[in-house]
Amino acid sequence: MPIKSLMLATLLPLSLALSACNSGGVSSDVSARQDTMKNWKDTKDSMESMIKSPQSFDAAKFKEDTQFLADDALTPWQHFQDKAAVGGANTTVWSNPEGFTAAAEKFKQAATNLNTVAQSATTADQVQPAFNELGESCKSCHQEFKAK
Ligand code: HEC
Repeated sequence: MPIKSLMLATLLPLSLALSACNSGGVSSDVSARQDTMKNWKDTKDSMESMIKSPQSFDAAKFKEDTQFLADDALTPWQHFQDKAAVGGANTTVWSNPEGFTAAAEKFKQAATNLNTVAQSATTADQVQPAFNELGESCKSCHQEFKAK
């Protein structure tokens, strides 16, 4: 029934917003996206250590990292919808939603591109340009959308 699905569509975001308030202290949205970002940092550090000491480059491990990032890049954005859940974000996330979405898209593309390059890479210098681009996309979003 169309009416029923319409009701579900309005009730679902409401219940999500309510559950976000229930965890007391840090909202579940904030902790969910912070957990994701921490995983991204660990993954980026793992890749960076292979780039900094090229003789340690492990193509299989590197591909595992890039695949994880390319997949996980899709996940945290749903946790930025509730503007009451500010956490460590800059309020520009909500005052400039187009800019934030564009920064998220740039990052997703950089993660996908790095994953593509990694599929055929055998040395660190083959992945370095795409890796640098990825790092740049983290940094440029943080400059505008993460609280200092
Ligand atoms: C489109 C924007 C955007 C992109 C892209 C992005 N971040 Fe973030 N990041 C944020 C925001 C906003 C926060 C603050 C979240 C909060 O505390 O509520 C954050 C927080 C973090 C934190 C702190 C988490 C904590 O425990 O407080 C780390 C670490 C981090 N990001 C790493 C990364 C890495 C590494 C990348 C790239 C691989 C990345 N981020 C890409 C927006 C972004």
